[in-house]
Amino acid sequence: MSLQKMTTKKIIEKKQKGEKIVTLTSYDYSIAKIVDESNIDLILVGDSLSMVMLGYKNTLSVTMDEMIHHTKAVTRGVSNALVVGDMPFLSYKIDIVEAVKNAGRFIQEGGAEAVKVEGGMEICPTIKAIINADIEVMGHIGLTPQAIYRFGGFMVQGKTVDAAKKLIMDAIILQETGVFSIVLESIPWQIAKLITNSVDIPTIGIGAGRYCDGQILVIHDMLGIFTEFKPKFLKYFGKVGDSIRNALKSYRHEVENEIYPEIEHSYELPQNELDDVNEWFEKVDIKEEALKLNKIIQK
Ligand code: KIV
Repeated sequence: MSLQKMTTKKIIEKKQKGEKIVTLTSYDYSIAKIVDESNIDLILVGDSLSMVMLGYKNTLSVTMDEMIHHTKAVTRGVSNALVVGDMPFLSYKIDIVEAVKNAGRFIQEGGAEAVKVEGGMEICPTIKAIINADIEVMGHIGLTPQAIYRFGGFMVQGKTVDAAKKLIMDAIILQETGVFSIVLESIPWQIAKLITNSVDIPTIGIGAGRYCDGQILVIHDMLGIFTEFKPKFLKYFGKVGDSIRNALKSYRHEVENEIYPEIEHSYELPQNELDDVNEWFEKVDIKEEALKLNKIIQK
C-alpha cells in the first residue's frame, strides 16, 4: 500500500469523515520507521522520553536540546506520519519570544511539522504567538504531566463540576486560538465526549475513553517495554520487554556454550590464501616482524 503524507489538514479531515485518528509516541529512528510503516497517522516525540528513554522519574527533567536530538532521529525515519515535537518543561512558559524560538527549533532543527504544548486558556497567548510564526500547534489538557507537582501526582483531572467545566472551556478557547487538535489526558470519558462533541478539531485521548476522535499511547508502555508504572487506561498490545529478555537469555546461552556464532555467521578466507598465511606464520618470528613493520609505520 502506498501511503500519503499526513498533514494537520488531513488530521482534521479525518474527524469530519468520522475516521478515528491513530497516534503513538516515538523517540528514535528505528522505532519511528516501524511506526510510520504501520500506517500510524501522527507520531509525537513526547517529553515522556524523559522517563521511558532517559530514566528520569518524571517528564520535568528533559531539556530542549535532548528533545531536538530525539526529534531529529524520529524525522529521519518517517515518510508519512505527521511528526509533532513536544515542548518540554519551561521551554514555553517563561516568555513568549523564547517560546516561539523554541517551537521554531523543533521545525527548523528537528524536522517536525508541529509542536505540542500543555495547558488551557492561560497558555493561549503563547500558542497564538507560535501560530503567528506559522507553526502548527497541538494542545494538551487534563492531566498535563509537567504540572504534576501542582496536581499532587499523576491524578485524574476534571473530576469536580468546576474542574470539568474549566476543561470544556479550555478546549473551546484552544480551538479559537487555532490549535489543530487537542490531547485529552486522564479525564472522565463523559467529559471527553462532551469536549469532542463541542469542538470541530480532533480530540486525541489518553485515558479519556473511547469517544475521543483518536487515541495516543506511549509506545514503550503499550509494547510492554516500560512496565514500572501502569495507569488504569494502559493496555499492553505486546510483550516486547519479555521478548527482549528471552532473546538476551538465548544469546548468553549460545555464546557461553559456543553455539553462536556458527559457520554461516563467519567470514572465510579462500584456502590458497590461508595456505600462504600459514606458511608465513610458520616461517617468521612474529614479534620481530611486527616490530619491524611498526617501525616503518611510525617513521
Ligand atoms: O509526552 C507524551 O508522551 C505525551 C503523550 C502521552 C500525550 O504527552
